[in-house]
Amino acid sequence: MDSIHNELRDNSRVQLASYYVLCEICSGHFDIMKCEDSYSINYREYWCLRAHSWVASGLCSIMLGKKLAKWFYEFGYRYKLMPWDIGPRSELIELVESGRIEPGRAIDLGSGTASNCIFLAQHGFDVTGVDYAKSAVELGRTRARKAGVSVEFIVDDLTDLSHVSGNFDLLVDYGTLDDLPPKERDLYVKNVLRLTKPDTLFLLFCFEWPPRWWEGFLFDRMAMRPGEVERRFGNYFEIERISGTKKPDFSKYPPGYGVYLMKRNGRVVSTQ
Ligand SMILES: C[S@@+](CC[C@H](N)C(=O)[O-])C[C@H]1O[C@@H](n2cnc3c(N)ncnc32)[C@H](O)[C@@H]1O
Repeated sequence: MDSIHNELRDNSRVQLASYYVLCEICSGHFDIMKCEDSYSINYREYWCLRAHSWVASGLCSIMLGKKLAKWFYEFGYRYKLMPWDIGPRSELIELVESGRIEPGRAIDLGSGTASNCIFLAQHGFDVTGVDYAKSAVELGRTRARKAGVSVEFIVDDLTDLSHVSGNFDLLVDYGTLDDLPPKERDLYVKNVLRLTKPDTLFLLFCFEWPPRWWEGFLFDRMAMRPGEVERRFGNYFEIERISGTKKPDFSKYPPGYGVYLMKRNGRVVSTQ
């Protein structure tokens, strides 16, 4: 987050407003809200910006959906603007360093900035990163090369996987599943289950809160509903919630998140 602070501190308010709108239009995720103090945006401006971005976001996601989301990612990675470019996630570091997750074949689903891929490769994993944004994959390749590690990056759509095959010992998803609208979440789960085998571990990071009425109306992508992880994965995984907010705090954005460590059981996936 510090690097984002530094990079954005000098930007004009107009640029910042565009950035806010762009972020929320496509993903509904912007940790960058946490930085608001550094721009001395007052309360009125803050809510004005948010209102604009909510309306723009809702309309755009209704009109353009997946295409716009993909365009947003392509653009953001090309110009290195992503607020989640904050290095490997602490929960992953802890699990690997404590030995609870052991080296094996790993895949990062929606690999984005590639921080988690690079961390895993540095710790002896055989890593694949998959993302539908070509610019993310290019960024990942450049970063892995600079870090001196080998990671296989693949451009593919997690709702319709055609270039990734085989089983993995570890699946990681930071902020990809929760970013999809419900129908695409169904397809994601179907596709991703094919990459698992008994005992595969799945580390899932997601925003999670019950939508307020206007969120449900304007957005179909944003956060997982409480209980949704269990509903989607409970048949196939033992699920442990290892971190996150127990009760959403609606005075903050995002109001809540969850981190899940799931272990695949032996249940066979239905092909229907
Ligand atoms: C919130 S970002 C998180 C990125 C990454 N996990 C990280 O920590 O840097 C979500 C990522 O999922 C990717 N993504 C979204 N929908 C996808 C899809 N259907 N198939 C593949 N990748 C997708 C986006 O391009 C983006 O890189």
